[in-house]
Order: sequence, then C-alpha cells, then structure tokens
Amino acid sequence: MTFTQKTNESRPSVAVIGAGAAGLLFAGACAELSGGKLRLTVYEKNRQPGRKLAITGKGRCNLTNACPPEEFFRHVPGNPRFLYSAVNAFPPAETMALFERLGVPLEIQRGRRVFPQSERAYDVVDALRAYAERGAEIRYSTPAERVGRAEGGGYFVEAAGKRERFDALVLACGGLSYPLTGSTGDGYRFARALGHTVTPLSPSLVPMEAKDKAMCASMMGLTLKNVVLTVRDGENGGKVLFSEQGEMLFTHFGISGPLVLTASAAARGRDLSRLTAEIDLKPALDEKTLDARLLSELSAQPNRDLKSVLGSLLPSKMTEPFARAAGLDPRKKANALTRAERARLLSFLKRFPLPLARLRPIEEATVTAGGVSVKEIDPKTMESRLSPRLYLIGEMIDCDAHTGGYNLQIAFSTAEAAARAAAALPEGLYTEGEKRKMKRHILVAIDGPSGAGKSSLAKIVAQKLDLLYIDTGALYRAVGYFMLRRGVDPADADAVTALLPEIGIRLSAGKDAMRVSVGGEDVSDRIRTPEVSAAASKVSAIPAVRAFLLETQKETAQKNSVIMDGRDIGTVILPEAKTKIFLTASAEARAKRRWLQLKEQGVETTVEELIEQQKERDRRDRERETAPAVPAPDAVLLDNSGLTLEETAEEVLRLVRKNEALG
Ligand code: DC
Repeated sequence: MTFTQKTNESRPSVAVIGAGAAGLLFAGACAELSGGKLRLTVYEKNRQPGRKLAITGKGRCNLTNACPPEEFFRHVPGNPRFLYSAVNAFPPAETMALFERLGVPLEIQRGRRVFPQSERAYDVVDALRAYAERGAEIRYSTPAERVGRAEGGGYFVEAAGKRERFDALVLACGGLSYPLTGSTGDGYRFARALGHTVTPLSPSLVPMEAKDKAMCASMMGLTLKNVVLTVRDGENGGKVLFSEQGEMLFTHFGISGPLVLTASAAARGRDLSRLTAEIDLKPALDEKTLDARLLSELSAQPNRDLKSVLGSLLPSKMTEPFARAAGLDPRKKANALTRAERARLLSFLKRFPLPLARLRPIEEATVTAGGVSVKEIDPKTMESRLSPRLYLIGEMIDCDAHTGGYNLQIAFSTAEAAARAAAALPEGLYTEGEKRKMKRHILVAIDGPSGAGKSSLAKIVAQKLDLLYIDTGALYRAVGYFMLRRGVDPADADAVTALLPEIGIRLSAGKDAMRVSVGGEDVSDRIRTPEVSAAASKVSAIPAVRAFLLETQKETAQKNSVIMDGRDIGTVILPEAKTKIFLTASAEARAKRRWLQLKEQGVETTVEELIEQQKERDRRDRERETAPAVPAPDAVLLDNSGLTLEETAEEVLRLVRKNEALG
C-alpha cells in the first residue's frame, strides 16, 4: 500500500506566478545562478507560456532597445528612478547577450528597436521557455487561485484545489492590458492580499479615438511614416504636450501606431476630449519650400482635379479625406484654386488637425500604468519591503515606459534583479527561530464515533494549517469493499487475512477530498454505502487488518505533518501527537445529521432506525479487543452535538496553535 506523499525535499522552494516575460526569465536566471540549489515551480494559467510576449511588436517581438542605460530612463515616464539600479545591473546589452546565448540571433532596426532576426516572436518565447524549463517545473493550465503567508514561515499557493508551501514567492502576473493573453490583474489581488498598495491603474501606450471617427475610418489601415505628431492641449496654439517624428496609422476609431502609443503616455491623466493631435505630413519641408512645391504641382497640372494633384504629395488613400477636411471639393480643378485655398492646403499639410475624443480602454493598452507601489519594493532586489522573500517583478510594478522595447527590458531587468537575490537564498534563508518553527512536525489526531463529523473537521483544519489529511476510515472501508467484491465474509478473520496481500490500496490527495483506489481502481465513490460501512466495521476488528494498515499510517506521519481521523489515532497510530481530539457527539445528534443527509439523497429511513444502527456500530467499535474506539487518556473530549462545523474547527485550531506554540 502506498500514500502519495508530499515531496520531502530539503531544497529551498520558490513559487513563481506567471510564465510571461518576467516569470520565465526569472526562473531561467535563478536556476542558473543558484546552480540547482533551489526548487522552482512556475504556475501558469494558460496552456503555453508567454502569450502576451508572442503578440508584441505585431508578432515580431521588440524585445529591447539598444540604447545606453542613461538614455533608457528618458523613455520611462513612470518611476524611472526606481529602475536605475536594476537596469544598470542588467541593461539592454545584457538582454541582447542573453538571447544570443540562448540561440536567438538579433538585429537592431529603426529607433534602435531590437528584434529577433527571424522576426518571429515565438522564437523569443521558445528560447525563454527552454531557458526556464532547464531548471524549473512549469505547471501549465494551473492558475494560482490564492496566495498568502504560510504558518511557520514562507508562503502558500493554492491552485487546482491544492495548497502548497514555498520558502519564497515571486509575483510576475503582468498588468491589465490584453486580458485575453491572461493578464487579468490577478497579481494586484495577490499583492494586496500580502499587504501591498496598488496605485490607480490606467492604460498606457494605448490608441486614441478621434472625434471624427468616420474620417479616420475612411483611411483605415493607412500607415504614415516619417510624420511629426504633435498633441496639444486645446486647439491650434495650445500647449504642446508631445511632439515627435515617427510612424502612425489610421484605424476605424482614430489613430494608433508607435507614435500614437508614445503620445498617449504624455497625455496621461488629461481629458482627451480637450486635446488635439496635429500631423505634420511633410516635416522635411519648411512652409516656404512646401508652398513652392505646391504651387509648381498645381501649375504643372492646371486641368486636373485637386484630388489627383494631391496624389503626388500624399498617399492616395488620404487625398480625398484630406481635401474635405481642408474644406475643399476634391474634384475642383487645380487652376480654379484661390490663393486662400492654397494657403489652407499648406496649413493642413503641416498641421493636419485631429480633435481627440478619448483613449481606448485599458484592455487595448500595451502596458498598464500604475501598479504595486515602488515605495514598498527594494529597487536592488525587487523584494517586498513588507514581506521577506516575496518578490514583485515586471509589469505589476508601478513603472512604465514608451514603446520601443523599453517595457520588456523593464520586465527582464526586474526579473534578473530578483533572480540574483533569490539565488542567494539557500545560504541563510531562514533565521534560526524561523527554522525551528518550520522544522516543527505537527501531528493532530481526531477520533470519535462514526457520524461525528471527523472528516469534515479534519479537512478544514488540514487546509488551514497546511497539513496532510489522512482519512483512515477510508482504508478500512477499502478493505471491506475489496472483501465484499471477492465474495469473502468480512467477519471471517482467516479468509480476510489470507486476501490482504492482494489488495493494492492507494490514497491520494484529490481536489476536495482524498481519493482511495484498490488495485488501481478509484473506489472513493463506492465505499460510502451501508454495506461497505458494515463490512468495514467487521474487518476493522481483525488484528491482521489493523497491523496491515498500521505501518503505512505511521510511516506517513513520520514523513509529513498530518491530521488523521479514525478510531485509534490518539491511542495507537499517533500516541505522540500533541493534539488529540475525541468527538463525543451523542448517537441521537449524529443519527439526526445522518437522517438529514439521507433525506437529501432521497433515502427513506427513520431517525430511530439510524440511532439503533449507530449504537450497534459504536458498541462493536468500542468493545472489540484490538484497538477499541476509546479516547486516549490525554485526549480532549469535545462534545460537538450543539456546535456547527466551523465552531468545532475553530476550537480545534485554537488547541493546535496552543499546543504547537504557533502563535
Ligand atoms: O470513519 P469511517 O466510518 O469511515 O470508518 C469505517 C470503519 O472503519 C468504522 O467501522 C470504524 C473503522 N475504523 C477503525 O476501526 N479505525 C480507524 N482508525 C478508522 C476507522
């Protein structure tokens, strides 16, 4: 017989939540730097890693910007100082060297943006994934549901119905942008649960909606290269908030593209409906030169219409909307244009106005501005100032930058800083006091008659104190079930004893309850019948059966902190347990509870009948010779007849905390 045991590994353990850019780099670097001295587990809600990474730079992945560190910070509007140390320690050049080393050749393009030569973002994702998987276990499709501080030190992570303890925790959950990739803001919830402040979240690097959507829609898909975009507070002549040369495009709602995304960061916190974007379509030509050019184009083609003359100055998709925006008929002949009309054309070529309406929502933002307050994070190590061995990295932090690869570099630099700090954990991970506390081996024994609510109680306590719950009754039930199926009388000691070597019983932790299997077959749902109860009661009186089940129960308790429920836990299995509870709910109270349960299941019976059955079973368990179901001399008798499950659990938790000095 085997128990599925908790790993009894002695290596310090680190949980990472999120296999995105920051989480993956952290896992890879930390494994490498610590030389395998840490056990790294990454929780990822998606089936694959790096979903958002894979769509950045339109699927090409602009992974960093090849600028020197000092210039880097000019592109970080959100809390640049916090990043000095991390970015200087792991600057863009280091990111590039790392990816080249991981087998991703890079190239530097316009604006010093760095891309994989293949221009395939998946090459970056695959390399990071392989790097992380060299030294970490990544659990895909396993969203972390809850995190918190574990009793006795470290952190717990709850996922897929299981709670696990780790020595350190890394939150790398991303922001709120592109929620379809998995960034749905869980990280902020976790950080708050651990006491952190999250500053207001808003979209950064986000497209802008124009007041005249129809005009933009008519140019949808048109990219303008080498134009200057200026954003002003108010109309013509208003204060300039942003002015840069670059690339932008028209969409069905307004404008987007690198220039617009960067401009959106400059417009942060402003009412966009008061702002105007202005496009200089011909930045290389000053007004005088442009006017001369316009004049020569118009006079060279006097009989053509304005729309086609503009075709030599503008992309064809823009000519008609441009003419209309300037208040001119696109079909008007070139030679019919007045001087004033030409002046208006000139003005619109240099300052094509687009009154703005609003930013697109945060879901469409490339990055999230705001996040976990930088005041609460150590900038050298990314360790929380509030909670030791908690690290916060990547987009979750209240930092953000322009487009151009800066934001991914922030994810990489902060991840590397945390990886360096965490890699040093094996030495001096815990103070002596903490170590003593953690080494503590907690054993809790719950005994009592059937129907007293032992297993529900034990499950709650196990969950709260991170103990392994062992339902020993299920073992006896499995033996009884096996005998019935084999046609053996469960009361026939010799026949039962002879068959014991053939049972392969296995207990494992299921989602909410323990699962029991016999000979590889999961029988958990078949051992709760009255027939199996009766058979279990009979086999449990056979000394050979008890001896057979005793050893593994004891062994499991030696290797794990456990809470076990049964009849002889306090007396035989765990006589050394500091906390022993014997539930003494009356046969009447138990029978009534059982009656209600059965009624819900549609089973017709009377309370009286059940009381009789209970009393008979109690008597057999109590009076049998081997391991009679009696309280250990040092057990606390707890009459839970009038208590709710929660009240009973509170009482048990109080006793365990007191006995184990958990505080
Ligand atoms: O707790 P339960 O009803 O699932 O237990 C099934 C039977 O096994 C019950 O008749 C008592 C017996 N048992 C036992 O003798 N010793 C244990 N440690 C647990 C259960």
